Amino acid sequence: MNKPDRRTIQLSLQDHQTDIAPLHMRHLFETDKQRFENMHETLHGLLLDYSKNRITEETLNLLCDLAEAAGVAQQAQAMRSGVKINLSENRAVLHTALRLPADAEPVYVDGENVLPKIHHELERALNFADNLINGHYQGATGKRITDFVHIGIGGSDLGPQVAVQALQPFQQNIRVHFVSNSDDAAIAQTLAGLNAETTIFCVASKSFRTPETLLNARAARHWFLAQGMPESAVGHHFIAISSSVETACDFGIGEENVFAMFEWVGGRYSVWSAIGLPVMVAIGGANFRQFLNGAHAMDEHFFHTDFRHNIPVLLALLGVWYGNFFGAQGHAVVPYSHNLRRFPSYLKQLDMESNGKYRTLQGDEVDYHTGGIVFGEAGVDCQHAFFQLLHQGTRLIPVDFIIPMSSPYAVGDQHRFTVANAFAQTEALMRGKTLAEARSELSYLPEAEQEVLAPHKTFPGNRPCNSILLDELNPFNLGMLAAMYEHKVFVQGVIWDINSFDQWGVEYGKVLAKTIEPELAQRQPLHHDSSTNGLIDYYYRCTQPLTGQKNPS
Ligand code: F6P
Repeated sequence: MNKPDRRTIQLSLQDHQTDIAPLHMRHLFETDKQRFENMHETLHGLLLDYSKNRITEETLNLLCDLAEAAGVAQQAQAMRSGVKINLSENRAVLHTALRLPADAEPVYVDGENVLPKIHHELERALNFADNLINGHYQGATGKRITDFVHIGIGGSDLGPQVAVQALQPFQQNIRVHFVSNSDDAAIAQTLAGLNAETTIFCVASKSFRTPETLLNARAARHWFLAQGMPESAVGHHFIAISSSVETACDFGIGEENVFAMFEWVGGRYSVWSAIGLPVMVAIGGANFRQFLNGAHAMDEHFFHTDFRHNIPVLLALLGVWYGNFFGAQGHAVVPYSHNLRRFPSYLKQLDMESNGKYRTLQGDEVDYHTGGIVFGEAGVDCQHAFFQLLHQGTRLIPVDFIIPMSSPYAVGDQHRFTVANAFAQTEALMRGKTLAEARSELSYLPEAEQEVLAPHKTFPGNRPCNSILLDELNPFNLGMLAAMYEHKVFVQGVIWDINSFDQWGVEYGKVLAKTIEPELAQRQPLHHDSSTNGLIDYYYRCTQPLTGQKNPS
């Protein structure tokens, strides 16, 4: 029998949604005591519980059929084998190759096996990091390096920044700082506490053309020289990570200190490459290899597990279920871990820059929703901020709870308290609280007051969430976690028939900024809309108050 096509499955899912919509998850749990058993998956130190979702086995079967009809398996195979699936940039997409062992099957791009190059660059970066840690690489004046300042933005910043923060307990002896924002507060505050003789600056930019990064790099070099360091020391204290080695050398960085990135790895997928250097410096080479191993373990799981038990595929399908069939517009990601507090920022770029697209691969406008709004911050902080809306607001916002099962800090019972709160939130979102339950909680009050208060204390519940438990927040598990989300995003992109690997949408504003910057520097006729003209004018009057007459339009 022929398999149904994508359109037919979508229609079946629509019909199925009308059956599921009135069902409450409370009921699903009450009628199936095995629900957790049947709806959780484990992989090494990671457990995904997706039983608190508005789904049945039939939902899962239909969603898996959708993934099959969309060609997820074929596209995954194309990606891992080096096919140029990033059509608008004519590039292969090979972040998974970055975490392959050196003796893995070759992966070819334009007829060349990329694995030797990958491992050559990896070894160079790991050696450099270890030499900083053990003091073999010293400053130009012979002092031990104590600080490493990573200057990059977007994908050249977020992945490493999150990993360094998340793996704080694995920190070695070098302090790692990150500067990304062009707002000069960032670079000024970072430089304030540093000694030029003992600091390495790492300029990380795939293109080596990103103005924010180059501005900060120039500011760092200016500061370095102003501290009395000679020009000849720049090449020793400044290193670069880029796919444009020549441009990095033009900046004054010695070729031996430029670590190569590859064209076929997108910025937001690049933490596994030399862009991970700050992570290597922070936690050491051996730990970084574990980070790669964790990602590779997730790749193996993703490439070889049937959809029904495939962790990234399940997460992707649940996102499609709510986004395309329930009208959900957003998705919250809440790590119950202070050290993972920046993880939502990394995910925002990974997910929204990848799947914020309105054209199909063929260039047609889509007539369905693609990527949603990803947001979040660390629990329990966010319980005291935006959780009210998750529980009693009018919108459906699925949540991913990421919860480490242990803490290396052992401060009283704080970790247990934190985990209890996370589990309680998953339960509260799922169960809700009925009017009768609210009334009975208020039974100590006069009946009239119960009547008034009880409606405010009811919760609709039936709000979906996934729980992603990590037995420990270590390099291996962090690698699995990040790779899990990479594959989730990929699967959704395939289902939506979009290119998850370009980012033309961020270019336009950058181009316009190039016109506005000189207009802010010097008065000249303005040709924008009246709002933009007005804003430029106001800036001019604030910064040049004495001569602040209006711009000549
Ligand atoms: O602004 C978007 C972007 O192009 C991201 O995709 C990228 O990660 C970031 O800028 C930085 O780019 P680069 O590494 O080339 O400096």
